[in-house]
Amino acid sequence: MSWLRDLLVPPQGSTFAHEVDPLFMFLVGLTGFFFLLIAGLTGWFILRYRRGSRVRRGVAPTHNTALELLWSLIPLALVVVIFFWGVQGYISAAVPPADALEIKVIGKRWLWEFQYPNGLRTVNEMRVPVNKPIKLVMISEDVIHSFYVPGFRIKQDVLPSRYTQLWFEATQPGVHSVLCAEYCGRSHSDMLATIHVVSQEEYQQWLEAGGAVGEGLPLSELGRLVYERYGCDACHSLDGTRLEGPSLRGVFGKPVLLADGQRVIADENYLRESILNPQAKIVAGYQPVMPTFQGLLSEREINALIEFIKEQK
Ligand code: CUA
Repeated sequence: MSWLRDLLVPPQGSTFAHEVDPLFMFLVGLTGFFFLLIAGLTGWFILRYRRGSRVRRGVAPTHNTALELLWSLIPLALVVVIFFWGVQGYISAAVPPADALEIKVIGKRWLWEFQYPNGLRTVNEMRVPVNKPIKLVMISEDVIHSFYVPGFRIKQDVLPSRYTQLWFEATQPGVHSVLCAEYCGRSHSDMLATIHVVSQEEYQQWLEAGGAVGEGLPLSELGRLVYERYGCDACHSLDGTRLEGPSLRGVFGKPVLLADGQRVIADENYLRESILNPQAKIVAGYQPVMPTFQGLLSEREINALIEFIKEQK
């Protein structure tokens, strides 16, 4: 049956997958069996008891106690089995081991931010060691999001007013996608992140290097990397298309009309302020919805972004 499983669910990336998948496959098999049974019987009865057929003559039975007991007790037993099987998996998913590594997750429109115990913050990219329980403590800065990692078989709502948690233990190195599974506005489907499962040593090195990426890249190339990785592309197009925020095309050096009627030139200082303190100057016709990137971007990354924006002519 593993070919069918591979067809229906992503590869098993965590310890939960080995608990969740058998129950899932059981449910698929069970519903498939009953679908065929009920659809088959319906078809057969339609033919057998059609108008004018010989078996319709005579008096129809009003009930059959044995049959009624059978079709009540068998489903009852099946539902009880599913309940206890499910509760077992729910409890192991709800209670993280005491020695789990804790990572904070912050959901906001439309990106995922991760905070590590040593103070490192990353956006849309999480790196975790293999074979180590990871506990996620999650909060939202705005609306309800949902942290969903199909490869790990975990999913949990992320609320603005209350911490929720999840945990997992990855069983092999690899890359897994994080999706937002609660509709949270226009760029909901772009609210994506990746989890890189790496060896303990690689994780330690990455943590000590401060999660730095793109060392040695030219500024504008690093800028493109930052633009994509930090989810800027969810709201700011490069081709002039109007999304939640203004397009970056041809913006550098041009006058910008603000919501309060002022006009400013989109120079380096304006762009920098708009990245670190987005509510300071709102472009006319747009909502003040952008989160701040203060503390998330290094000076080098801010320079790189500005350089990248300059090139969008
Ligand atoms: Cu966040 Cu959908």
